[in-house]
Amino acid sequence: AVKPDRYLWSREQVSASFPARNKHTHKGSYGKGLLAGGSIHMTGAPVLAATSALRSGAGLLTTAVPEEALSTVASQVAESTFLPLPSKEGEVSEEVGTLDLSLSNYDGVAAGPGLGRNEGTRTFVQKLLNEVKGPLVLDADALFVLKELGEEWRKRDFPLILTPHPGELAHLTGLSPAEVNRQRFSISRSFAAQHGCYLILKGPHTIVTTPEGRQYVNDSGNPSLAKGGTGDVLTGMILSFVMSHSAIQEALSNAVFLHGKAADMLVDDVSSPHSVVAGDVVQQLPLTFRSIL
Ligand code: APR
Ligand code: MG
Repeated sequence: AVKPDRYLWSREQVSASFPARNKHTHKGSYGKGLLAGGSIHMTGAPVLAATSALRSGAGLLTTAVPEEALSTVASQVAESTFLPLPSKEGEVSEEVGTLDLSLSNYDGVAAGPGLGRNEGTRTFVQKLLNEVKGPLVLDADALFVLKELGEEWRKRDFPLILTPHPGELAHLTGLSPAEVNRQRFSISRSFAAQHGCYLILKGPHTIVTTPEGRQYVNDSGNPSLAKGGTGDVLTGMILSFVMSHSAIQEALSNAVFLHGKAADMLVDDVSSPHSVVAGDVVQQLPLTFRSIL
């Protein structure tokens, strides 16, 4: 029997809730997003997240990258504009805390992929928590530094969305990855309630938990996704979806489902579980979205 407040989110729910693209709209109707990530040795992560966001409906995307890594990232993403972040030793520097980045101008912000874990990242994440006026998605290295912010991060007035894999949630809670995996539902629920955030605990059967404790389990995806970079693709999808869909949980569950569905289509139709790479998932998004309309 299914527990109360626990639901399956699959194709029918996605089809029923996926927002249409209306005729009388313009690029501003679908959100101006900011994707922040990358560092000198991790330039692929923001490329994957940005191209994924662009393939998922965002009207306008700005990609923020530490200056020393910017040209490498920018050369691989044609449709985005770019915001250079101050950098030191290849990663965002603490100077970022003193700059006016006009963060309140964005309809949604996602940060983390490839940022690195130095003090600059910590300062940057604190600034995002303070200044972003809209949904804020924190992933990867942005999650890692949250732990160091101690009590400084608590309920914001806008949605906060965290997308850890079990190892990242273990770090955040101080539990072991094995403990997290044994009690994925209850640990997700208490963490989301405690911090007033949406929590996406990734893995086979990813769970989306709302701040109120409702939990939506995904049934798409396969082990072809167990590759570096696929999480970054999901982050980009989430950024676009939360900007174009006012029901946050639906946007999150739809992104998780379609990300897995893209991998399922690749494995069924064109590739093999061994060969799928994260960039293939981005390229598969157009046909994946068509398949549920
Ligand atoms: N079945 C279904 N889905 C899976 C499976 C599986 N066996 N394995 C992984 N996935 C999905 C997850 O649900 C998630 O959506 O693939 C994605 C993997 O995301 P991450 O674990 O975040 O991996 P990724 O970010 O691409 O690469 C690892 O993340 O946290 C950082 O430091 C870490 O740099 C490293 C990077
Ligand atoms: Mg990741």
